[in-house]
Amino acid sequence: MKQIHFTTIDSTSTYAKTHAAEFDPKEITCVCAEEQTAGKGRFGRPWASPAGVNIYATFCFTLPSSQRHLTSLSQVMTASIASVLLSESIIPEIKWPNDIRFEEKKLCGVLSEVVFKGDVVQVFIGVGLNVNMDAHDLEGISQPATSLKLAKGQSLDKEELLQKIQTQFAQDLEKFKLNGFDSFYSFYQQYLVIQTKPIHFFDGKKEWVGTYHSLNKDGGINIQLPDQSIQTIYT
Ligand code: BTN
Repeated sequence: MKQIHFTTIDSTSTYAKTHAAEFDPKEITCVCAEEQTAGKGRFGRPWASPAGVNIYATFCFTLPSSQRHLTSLSQVMTASIASVLLSESIIPEIKWPNDIRFEEKKLCGVLSEVVFKGDVVQVFIGVGLNVNMDAHDLEGISQPATSLKLAKGQSLDKEELLQKIQTQFAQDLEKFKLNGFDSFYSFYQQYLVIQTKPIHFFDGKKEWVGTYHSLNKDGGINIQLPDQSIQTIYT
């Protein structure tokens, strides 16, 4: 895996998308930074990215456009990070599709974007993992959040942790290329926290509300609608 490291950058994902043409399409490029000045979260939200404490990294690579279960790729990254956290004695709580929480507070966010270019797809998976943030650093965040330091009561070596995530994800991506989400289904389901609250989703035309029914084999979730029918939604 090739690594490109910045002391400070607007966003590792913005950099990766702008410079993707320069990356070797045969390997994974990991763009990481000590600090982001314009870190992006899902739904256009900002991602708090103070200097020197957390992991901010974007993994960039290409796959065939025909890749099975492509929509679950960010969940594969979530599973990779969850297994690294287990090796650090943290029991991860996965909130579908990509959030990792600890004691119901957000620890890690994953943001994936894909660009189709004929028969290949360029993939960008951004990872923000709160490693050594202290309680006062977390105060400005709009949702309950925590860090590994607060969860474990001690600081962690974030470079070592990023290396573990890189190694784990590189192995997992090879499994994904062969079997799609199949190899991750049981592990992902084991740490998935079932949502009991109503789930709102938009199908491009209409907003729907339903309740969680089950995890689909391809990583989507099956939602039961008020008329008892089941609809599968994807990340
Ligand atoms: C989320 O909202 O849950 C996803 C957050 C993803 C944040 C990471 S930090 C590294 C990469 N660069 C960004 O600007 N965003 C992602």
